[in-house]
Amino acid sequence: MKYLFKNKVAIVTGSSSGIGLATARLLAEKGAKVVLAARNKEKLDEIVKELKENGTNVFAVKTDVSSEQDCKNLIEETVNHYKAIDILINNAGISMRALFKDVDLGVIRTLMEVNFFGTVYCTKYALPYLMEAKGSVIGVSSVAGFHGMPGRIGYSASKHAMHGFMNSLRIENLKTGLHVMLVIPGFTASNVRKSALVADGSVQCESPRKEGKMMMPEEVAKAILKGIRRKKKKVLLTFLGKGSAIMQKWYPSYLDWLFYYHLAKEPDSPFE
Ligand code: NAI
Repeated sequence: MKYLFKNKVAIVTGSSSGIGLATARLLAEKGAKVVLAARNKEKLDEIVKELKENGTNVFAVKTDVSSEQDCKNLIEETVNHYKAIDILINNAGISMRALFKDVDLGVIRTLMEVNFFGTVYCTKYALPYLMEAKGSVIGVSSVAGFHGMPGRIGYSASKHAMHGFMNSLRIENLKTGLHVMLVIPGFTASNVRKSALVADGSVQCESPRKEGKMMMPEEVAKAILKGIRRKKKKVLLTFLGKGSAIMQKWYPSYLDWLFYYHLAKEPDSPFE
């Protein structure tokens, strides 16, 4: 595995925490040249320092993926620096919690801009280099990307859009050698629920779930690298994730109720 990633240029968006950070660290460990991208430059600089101390060739670009110009700049800086791009991991994402009847439409727009357009922009500008390298483009999605989720309507819509985009891109590239992969983690301990937006667009701050009982981001990172190595189309993780995919195929109405009751049980759920 070390040989495969050695000196490969890998961009990870949303690499200041959670799954993105764990993936950047693992890529560094495997000898890749890593480009970190997120909005918090101070945090990224700390991670650059940590990775450089371990001998990694790494740099960071302050990037808000909802800005097309920032994404273009991320790709240009990467190419100026390393002259190539082998792997793009579209991981940056935010969530939400509110019912559609209550939510400010700006929340849904923000979710689409970050989760969907962030993926589209980075992929668009990186595509010529990824195709030249016959590299890998990855989208970190969610179970909410293949089945609707009550109280997470903007999140689910943005991840469904991401699925359509990544699946179409994969088929467009069946003959080009570009590897396109969707990653669908189940619940993973991270900041995603703390930074989720509520109905009025403010940040939720507290996670409504027990983060300590979830899969760790390092496990997702391992699965991402394994998926790249095996050129998989889709990586589906956790019992809940795999079980949901099977149920969605055979018992979709039952899955509707399961999601409903599961999420209704969360503390401060917007529905009963
Ligand atoms: P996290 O909140 O720890 O990390 C998200 C990262 O994205 C952070 O670095 C954050 O700063 C960055 N980010 C957010 N908005 C951004 C923007 N506009 N521009 C640039 N960076 C931005 O959460 P986590 O869980 O590591 O999330 C990573 C991905 O995994 C997300 O796409 C999320 O939807 C997905 N996911 C997470 C699950 C979980 O249970 N943690 C489950 C399924 C999917």
